[in-house]
Amino acid sequence: RQNERESLYIILNFAKNFYRQQLEDSEEGQAVGLSYFRERGFTNEIRKKFELGYSLDTWDSFIREALEKGYSPEILEKAGLLIHREGSRPGDRQTTGYDRFRGRVIFPIHHVSGKVIAFGARILKSDKANANQKGANQPKYLNSPETDVYHKSDVLYGIFQAKNAIRQLDHCYLVEGYTDVISLHQAGIENVVASSGTSLTVEQIRLIGRFTPNVTILYDGDIAGIKAALRGLDLVLEEGLNVNVVLFPDGDDPDSFVRKVGAEAFKVHLKKASKDFISFKTEILLADAGNDPFRQAAVIGDVVNSIVKIPDAIKRQVFFHRTSEMMKVDEQMLITEGNKQLRKLQ
Ligand code: GTP
Ligand code: MN
Ligand code: MN
Ligand code: MN
Ligand code: MN
Repeated sequence: RQNERESLYIILNFAKNFYRQQLEDSEEGQAVGLSYFRERGFTNEIRKKFELGYSLDTWDSFIREALEKGYSPEILEKAGLLIHREGSRPGDRQTTGYDRFRGRVIFPIHHVSGKVIAFGARILKSDKANANQKGANQPKYLNSPETDVYHKSDVLYGIFQAKNAIRQLDHCYLVEGYTDVISLHQAGIENVVASSGTSLTVEQIRLIGRFTPNVTILYDGDIAGIKAALRGLDLVLEEGLNVNVVLFPDGDDPDSFVRKVGAEAFKVHLKKASKDFISFKTEILLADAGNDPFRQAAVIGDVVNSIVKIPDAIKRQVFFHRTSEMMKVDEQMLITEGNKQLRKLQ
């Protein structure tokens, strides 16, 4: 078992180097992949730091190279790099399968120790352009499947590159996507990781918790991002960590926003727009409730519902106090309501 995991790390590292080389040295890689990354403003250093790559737009360039080097079709499949072709005969190398990643830019996903454990791979066209191109129903990002070394729900993209900064600054920014992590690094913000499309998991929060108890959620400024932030903050609170939220203008994510306003203005925005979970939640929910007093009242219950998720009784008390001041409601009433909800949870 241990041996098999070791061979997966080796083939994944080989694949990473292959994709790196295709990006930096091949004609197609330079014309397509490199120009894509340059258009996004990614520098040479950042490509190196995140070990970005490119997979040629062919059926089997990677697996042919790997088979030639002696890797078996079985290990390539177990690593998620080869897709088995139905009907192919075992041992028939030419027809055994094809490359999972084709014609995409490659984002290696590193374990906290630095080992490559999986890949994310992006189509080259923007979302909208893609709708009009061949393969309109191709997913924007294609990821490695679950393997013996890659359990999606345990992984945070960027944790290897971010962990020292997170520990030093005692603070972690949490974003949605690969390119948000990379752009923020380039802007000098290195304490940042991404949940990469999966909705945030307890395992991911505990991984952050190994380095800091302080989390700020920087999700995309759209309805999906706001919903994910509301859900994420409850989960972070439940794990006993502290959480703030920064909203971005509608249609922007951290990557597009930092490129629009520049690193300095972005950092100012992080400071100015950062809200504790109570302000964030009440603001979002009250805006949604409009003038309806019943829905306004329900917001108070909703906020209490987040507070009771905090395991620490002293912190809960502080937030009850804060909520009573913010919403101008009796603190004792909030505590009574909170105790009611706590009993229901137990
Ligand atoms: P760019 O368009 O390259 O800027 O990516 P983004 O990170 O802004 O993408 P988006 O906000 O749409 O999604 C956030 C993250 O969700 C991505 O970074 C991916 O990790 C993941 N994701 C997005 N689209 C897909 C998809 O089609 N399939 C899968 N598996 N994951 C996706
Ligand atoms: Mn989004
Ligand atoms: Mn984006
Ligand atoms: Mn995004
Ligand atoms: Mn008080």
